[in-house]
Amino acid sequence: MPPTEHPSLARSPYLLAARGEQPPHTPVWFMRQAGRALPEYRAVREGTTMLESCTRPDLVVEITLQPVRRYGVDAAIYYSDIVFPLKAAGFDIEIKPGIGPVVADPIRDAAGLAALRPVTPADVPFTTESVQQLVAELGGTPLIGFAGAPFTVASYLVEGGPSKDYARTKAMMHAAPELWHALADRLADVAIAFLSVQVEAGASAIQLFDSWAGGLSPRDYERFVLPHSAKVFEALAPYGVPRVHFGVNTGELLGLMSSAGADVVGVDWRVPLDEAVRRITAAGGAPKPVQGNLDPALLFAGWEAIEPEIDRILAEGQAAPGHIFNLGHGVPPDADPDVLERIVKYVQTRSAR
Ligand code: CP3
Repeated sequence: MPPTEHPSLARSPYLLAARGEQPPHTPVWFMRQAGRALPEYRAVREGTTMLESCTRPDLVVEITLQPVRRYGVDAAIYYSDIVFPLKAAGFDIEIKPGIGPVVADPIRDAAGLAALRPVTPADVPFTTESVQQLVAELGGTPLIGFAGAPFTVASYLVEGGPSKDYARTKAMMHAAPELWHALADRLADVAIAFLSVQVEAGASAIQLFDSWAGGLSPRDYERFVLPHSAKVFEALAPYGVPRVHFGVNTGELLGLMSSAGADVVGVDWRVPLDEAVRRITAAGGAPKPVQGNLDPALLFAGWEAIEPEIDRILAEGQAAPGHIFNLGHGVPPDADPDVLERIVKYVQTRSAR
């Protein structure tokens, strides 16, 4: 069972918005708020690889807290990576700076799949320790736990690294559906194990990143991906924490990604939030809280351009029962931290009621 909640978490703007209740202001945080945009991150990361740093609770706690201190965001996100649990379970995967996750032996057949063993809590003791420490230090600021969704993680494992077209992954779905479903099912279990450890240690919400799902047609998404992501959301349901689902370029998939079991739908900058709410509702059921969706490119456009975009997004977010302000994707490594700080202050002040 997760530990008892800090009393002021009940009033957390992030959690209120995620549950469709009225927060005192629109909450704001940034995907990839920890990381290379911060000089203090670059300083503490010196001399360790990305995946090594994830095994050190002292570093994980410090890096997770850095953007909370600097920006005053309404939520922290556990510093780790979508491929970290695989590495922790002994799978040969690295993160190459400037490139992303790279796999020594891409998974192309049943023998390759056998190299991917299930993840257990015993594989990630540093996750439990880091999250427990973080929750204690964060007090009334919620910690978001996260995992990679089966498709996005599979794309790295099958392609061998980052890809523009996911050609081998899609080929596996269509040519070897049994192998694909076995791989995706195993990755759903990895996500469930990693997320459960984080929630058991005190994370207040979870976000399932299916960053690259937008590369799929709705038909393929529904057949090959949705059942596996739905398994993850269903397994997390008993904890009662808000479950967020996010991907890039998912305008055509918003309804399906919502119906996979998300409580909150993350939206990139391509679809206005009010239109996103219409698409989610058209898929059946009640409207849901949304998260997003300032184009990260705007961070480089100057405040005169940013301010009206924030106003527009706050207005469009009113169409949803809850709105969590964010970028439409992660913070670029060359973003100016002062701009991010100004956005946080502006969103919190402008939306105060
Ligand atoms: O504040 C946070 O969000 C930090 C936690 C976090 C990281 N990765 C740390 C990280 C989270 C939530 C992720 C998720 C992640 N990792 C995703 C989904 C989110 C998204 O952006 O769509 C994906 C696709 C990955 C895979 C991955 N890991 C990529 C593509 C990269 C970038 C490679 C590069 O160098 O450009 C990473 C590395 C990574 N993960 C870094 C950080 C801070 C940078 C590596 C470094 O600082 O050495």
